[in-house]
Amino acid sequence: GVGPDLAGRHVVVTAGGTREPLDPVRFLGNRSSGKQGYALARTAAARGARVTLVSANSALPDPAGVDLVRVGSAEELRTAVTAAAADADAVVMAAAVADFRPAAYATGKIKKKAGQEPEPLALARNPDILAELAAHRPRPGQLVVGFAAETDRVLEHGRAKLAAKGCDLLVVNEVGESRTFGSEENEAVVLGTDGSETPVPHGPKEALAETVWDLIAERFPGLSED
Ligand code: C5P
Repeated sequence: GVGPDLAGRHVVVTAGGTREPLDPVRFLGNRSSGKQGYALARTAAARGARVTLVSANSALPDPAGVDLVRVGSAEELRTAVTAAAADADAVVMAAAVADFRPAAYATGKIKKKAGQEPEPLALARNPDILAELAAHRPRPGQLVVGFAAETDRVLEHGRAKLAAKGCDLLVVNEVGESRTFGSEENEAVVLGTDGSETPVPHGPKEALAETVWDLIAERFPGLSED
């Protein structure tokens, strides 16, 4: 712990993975557990922040001392994170948000028809919530942080994604072999728009979370006196 250096701050963290409904009983989803986002929420609370955790379909136990908002789909996550961001000092998008959703939602369960080939599944693009948040900041000085998984040329692809998203920091997880890190796996590097590059060695998700809050805390504008 580094003491209550986030006291007086409101931070918003998204965690888990979205589920994009197809019909009342089916969805397109992903395997994100929510562990990194929950670690971010816990560590921020321990450092004195007021924390809103927007959790998409995580099975993890509710963290103590955190305002938990449960969501299902990317659309619900967008509504919840946008509302919570209105008075937030920082927003950290650790959730795995589906890039695509089924183009149509069937209000009744889709049934197989005897002797018929299945229909192809049409998809529609979801909004990029991180890019939206970064482009429309409700308060000046608000910090917006994204996560990205890259398999190769981590720094180059990470820099390009940081610029494309318009956020202040991008936590790039290396998910495969790369020239930059050789055979090391599960390393992250945090890239900043200020050109900073902070490697985080392989370790528990809490350690990465603490580094992310360190980098955020040192970029916060001073707290107002009133
Ligand atoms: O583009 P990519 O999916 O690699 O970007 C990952 C980052 O963007 C994560 O921070 C994720 O939460 C965010 N994201 C988003 N909306 C999407 C897709 C990703 O906010 N539709």
